[in-house]
Amino acid sequence: MEDATSKTDFFVVKALEDGVHVIGLTRGTETRFHHSEKLDKGEVMIAQFTEHTSAIKVRGKAFIQTSHGELSNE
Ligand code: TRP
Repeated sequence: MEDATSKTDFFVVKALEDGVHVIGLTRGTETRFHHSEKLDKGEVMIAQFTEHTSAIKVRGKAFIQTSHGELSNE
């Protein structure tokens, strides 16, 4: 969905171990990694979906909150 609201959602990722990666994937016809952020245990990232970022991939144990709910991938 390319409406304005699809780019205003925030998400929160809290690392439950060292070396968790939050990987930003591009919006548009070509889906590729464009940014990788490394979090150590206890670190929190608060970020927004944007014109450039339509999806994220979280690698490692983390607690994730979005407007759709919250989950842990442990
Ligand atoms: N410059 C990126 C953007 O505006 C920064 C960014 C936003 C990002 N949300 C993210 C990077 C989520 C990684 C994960 O799209």
